[in-house]
Amino acid sequence: KLTIDRFDLFTIIFDILISILGSLIVNRLIPILKEKFIKAQLWGHDLNKRNSTEIKVAESQGVLAAGIFLILMFIMIAIVFSEHLHPESVFPHNKFVEYLAALLSICCMVLLGFADDVLDLRWSIKLLLPLIASLPLLLVYFANYHSTTIILPKPVRPYLGQQWNLGILYYIYMSMVAVFCTNAINILAGVNGLEVGQSIVIAISILIFNLVELQGICWEEHLFSLYFMIPFIACTLPILIKNWYPAEIFVGDTLCYFSGMTFAVVGIIGHFSKTMLLFFIPQIINFLLSIPQLFHFIPCPRHRLPRLNPELNKLNASEVEFKKSDLKTLEYLNNDGELMISTTNFTIINTVLCWCGPLHEEKLSRILILIQIVFGTLLTFFIRYYLVKFFYDS
Ligand code: UD1
Ligand code: MG
Repeated sequence: KLTIDRFDLFTIIFDILISILGSLIVNRLIPILKEKFIKAQLWGHDLNKRNSTEIKVAESQGVLAAGIFLILMFIMIAIVFSEHLHPESVFPHNKFVEYLAALLSICCMVLLGFADDVLDLRWSIKLLLPLIASLPLLLVYFANYHSTTIILPKPVRPYLGQQWNLGILYYIYMSMVAVFCTNAINILAGVNGLEVGQSIVIAISILIFNLVELQGICWEEHLFSLYFMIPFIACTLPILIKNWYPAEIFVGDTLCYFSGMTFAVVGIIGHFSKTMLLFFIPQIINFLLSIPQLFHFIPCPRHRLPRLNPELNKLNASEVEFKKSDLKTLEYLNNDGELMISTTNFTIINTVLCWCGPLHEEKLSRILILIQIVFGTLLTFFIRYYLVKFFYDS
């Protein structure tokens, strides 16, 4: 039993059609603009190839996907709201503002990503700007929903009550979601196809979730999310194909921030930020694993990506070497008098290599995408549609 009407069905079909067109345009733009990016010094060496220093690979190609995505979304807004344009209809200003705030936040993050690719921004900026960019979104949430109450799970209700009003904490939580999502994909990176591959897996998971929930009471929010996910997948697919091993292009931080903010936006406005975060389970684990290096308890090198063994053409886990005196916070743990200490970099990618042994880059990428599908997507649907029965009433 579908809750959407014929006009909504028309907009979905229209969304699919212009997304296919957008996909073709991105696919066409990449070969045309690649050289221009390289001329503008936006390129990098593919560090895990034998001839890495000889070839320049165009960076920041995610900006093509983001640019076309934004154009498609502006067209979509016109179509979605055309229903209300005749004089007798009441124009839903509150819904309109949701779209605008969503696009504004995404736009800001694309800009930040591009700035990061060009200028290599500091960490503090990377954390601060998504926080500020999420403000319009939080204001819209405040104006349109204003609900900051969470329902507690059944087992704890006898002790803690039925529900909690988190008030301002809920807004802090939502801005943290925005900060986390924009950065989480970027730090699970360094293998061809991984950044954009994981983004597409998450986007498809959200799309499936939206399609299922179109039959529920919150169908309007899921329809909103659907309008964003269809063009997102279409525009990033050509990027994945060209970024897959052996990479012809790099996606840049632009794509990582663009996808992260798009997911945060639909999760927040669509009221499914908790399910959305579950799709990020691999990124959450990678973030937790990274904490010692991100907060500099252990030195964090510029690149933590795996290292190539040129003889085998396989990747090994990368290591970071440091002096004992570099260990500021953990110093008391090391009294063995050794001069140099080394440890593998703390990422999921290196953990997989430690467990499986040296792997070919393409195989490693496949395994990491599989991890995303199993622990991000399938596990989330299991939790959301099966386990949840034991904790909530419906
Ligand atoms: C993040 C990671 C860093 C990782 C880098 C790789 C943290 C804190 N930062 O940094 O450890 O090394 O991403 O993207 O975890 N590159 C490849 N092959 C790829 C992708 C990237 O060789 O498949 C190299 C290229 O030289 C490319 C560069 O990485 O130019 C891009 O790195 P960038 O996105 O600027 O690094 P960060 O996001 O700062
Ligand atoms: Mg990056």
